[in-house]
Amino acid sequence: MSKNITDKVVRNSSDNTPFSEVLEKSLSRRTFMRGSLGAAFATMTAGSLAACGGDGGDEAPTVPDPTPTPEPTPEPLKLGFDSLPNSMTDACVVPPGYTARVFAPWGTPLDDNAAPWDRNGNNTSNDLLHSTGMHHDGMRYFPLDGSSSEGLLVVNHEYIDENALHPNGQTFVEGKRPAEEVRKEVNAHGVAIMHIRKDANGGWDIVRNSRYNRRFTSATPMSLAGPVARTDWVKTPYSPTGAQTRGTNNNCGNGYTPWGTYLTAEENWAACFVNTGEQPREQKRVGIGNTVGRYQWETAAGDLTEVQGEFARFNIAATGGDATQDWRNEANTFGYLVEIDPYDPSSIATKRTALGRFAHEGAAYSLPEEGKPLSFYSGDDSRFEYIYRYVSDAVWDPRDAERTDRLAVGAKYLDKGTLYVARFNDDGSGTWLPLTEASVGKDGRTLKDEFGSLAEIIVNTRGAADFVGATPMDRPEWTVVHPSTGDVYVTLTNNTSRNAQTGTNAPNPRLNNANGHIVRWHDDAASDTFRWEIFVFGSDAGADADTNRSGLTEFNQLASPDGLGFDDRGILWIQTDNGIDGGRNNAVAKSTNDQMLAVIPNAVGEIEGVGPVIDSGNQADLRRFFVGPNEAEITGFAYTPDFTSIFLNIQHPANWPAYDTDDATVVPSSDVRPRSSTVVIQKADGGPIGV
Ligand code: FEO
Ligand code: CA
Ligand code: CA
Repeated sequence: MSKNITDKVVRNSSDNTPFSEVLEKSLSRRTFMRGSLGAAFATMTAGSLAACGGDGGDEAPTVPDPTPTPEPTPEPLKLGFDSLPNSMTDACVVPPGYTARVFAPWGTPLDDNAAPWDRNGNNTSNDLLHSTGMHHDGMRYFPLDGSSSEGLLVVNHEYIDENALHPNGQTFVEGKRPAEEVRKEVNAHGVAIMHIRKDANGGWDIVRNSRYNRRFTSATPMSLAGPVARTDWVKTPYSPTGAQTRGTNNNCGNGYTPWGTYLTAEENWAACFVNTGEQPREQKRVGIGNTVGRYQWETAAGDLTEVQGEFARFNIAATGGDATQDWRNEANTFGYLVEIDPYDPSSIATKRTALGRFAHEGAAYSLPEEGKPLSFYSGDDSRFEYIYRYVSDAVWDPRDAERTDRLAVGAKYLDKGTLYVARFNDDGSGTWLPLTEASVGKDGRTLKDEFGSLAEIIVNTRGAADFVGATPMDRPEWTVVHPSTGDVYVTLTNNTSRNAQTGTNAPNPRLNNANGHIVRWHDDAASDTFRWEIFVFGSDAGADADTNRSGLTEFNQLASPDGLGFDDRGILWIQTDNGIDGGRNNAVAKSTNDQMLAVIPNAVGEIEGVGPVIDSGNQADLRRFFVGPNEAEITGFAYTPDFTSIFLNIQHPANWPAYDTDDATVVPSSDVRPRSSTVVIQKADGGPIGV
């Protein structure tokens, strides 16, 4: 996500030591890794390919056993393409021998209840309810019957471009948003499940009217589960028991689970709400609007067609006698990881509150080991916010990967556990600080003293993390886990608010961090400590050595790393969101559009010190695989089990895709109404991608 919904305000007023201070000290002790990253990794083993049951019919499918079964790699894993040059066009660029096809751009009908997409923006709210939404982001391919030619593609729709969505942008009538326009915007957000299948030519199509096709919008009924559910914090007129809410919002990155469900991350939801009155701390700390909501959905309140406060709920001022008479708690039902079972069309999406409430960017789980708890990692994408780990109370039972009551399995692992927040120490070690009632804060008081209950701790997750002394980071974005080493990677996209006053630290070592970097660590769910190191620093090729600490060249210079994906072979795919956030205002953005790069990493601990792992001696192993169209962010990564199709998303392009072709590499011959879209990348010879 970039452009207009990023929360640029620093909301962390704690005096916790910034992470960058920690890293600067450690860099003085680092040693650089020499030689090729690829060669270093070639002796590692690849994880087993995902396989999935189910026949695409009425039988509930079984899901992949996610537990990697290491087997020797027959050939050393090597990237098989040359790094692409910079590009700044209204088109996608892929290496020679590859194709890139536009797939399911916003407004693509999923069933016959939707009219075809209209070039002039005249589709209705009902069309959007039955079509793909806008601003595609995180996603995952769930195979049917283990297939690489038929599956369920689940895609987040993060936010909207009002000018592209409507014929002439947003309108107001006597200061109010028209109800139909608001509903169209609400329906353009959320998540889409698409049943997709390869056609005879090897391209991909949506199976229109499939029973698997679904839309979750900012109004879809959802369950609340975990410690916050059914408490006074989430009771509303819609759900006086606090068991339910409506909608998921600003779904950015994603995760998935070992039992075959999808996790969608609610990120910049806070500004959709408004409270012009005195805001309680749980509203201030997350950035609830104090003048109007981002889209002013609340102004449609009172429309004669309004159902159960569908518009009024975005104004969360306390005006009634209690929480069942106004919408004071509505925002407390947002800010979570939401679990979706794509294989069960009748299932209800469930907000898993135990994993914390903040601007969730995504989620990734540790390698499951029988008899041990599961860990899930999630970043909070805002300046000086934190990185979290959740550890389940339940220990992993591999048979749970085969169960078809997948949301019950989700309840087992995701509703009872301990949330932690990370503190990074100067020497490359780190500590997970639990956010429990017994946790002691910097002033010697406990979180129970400060917040009273676990539910209130979670509603105030950021405040609880401040309280225990977590390390503020340079905007944590996606987290991913290496398929065989279990190492965890997080993108720290940028933080231009890091200045002399805030200081730097070891893991956030650069002032005015316009380019971002990637941190990785290794830990064990049974331990509260971890070892971390910097993987790569973003930079333009021409920067001085203090900025370009990874020695990047014009063939892999990057800034604002954001999306991340590991495929099961161990290739790390890095995506950027740099180009247009405030204009082409850094040197990388002046040279190239946003991109996706690939690298085959070694393991945490194979270097001394805290990195960077990628330096001038091995930077050539980081290769640019894809460049997107002008102004677009590249985000979301999915692939088929045989690695022959990779899916990524183009979000908020300026003038793309071209009309009348699905070739993503074609520059439009005239102005087009821009459409965020998935792009499918394949090799012309049908082989596996990247190698
Ligand atoms: Fe939606 Fe943090 O990117
Ligand atoms: Ca993102
Ligand atoms: Ca971003």
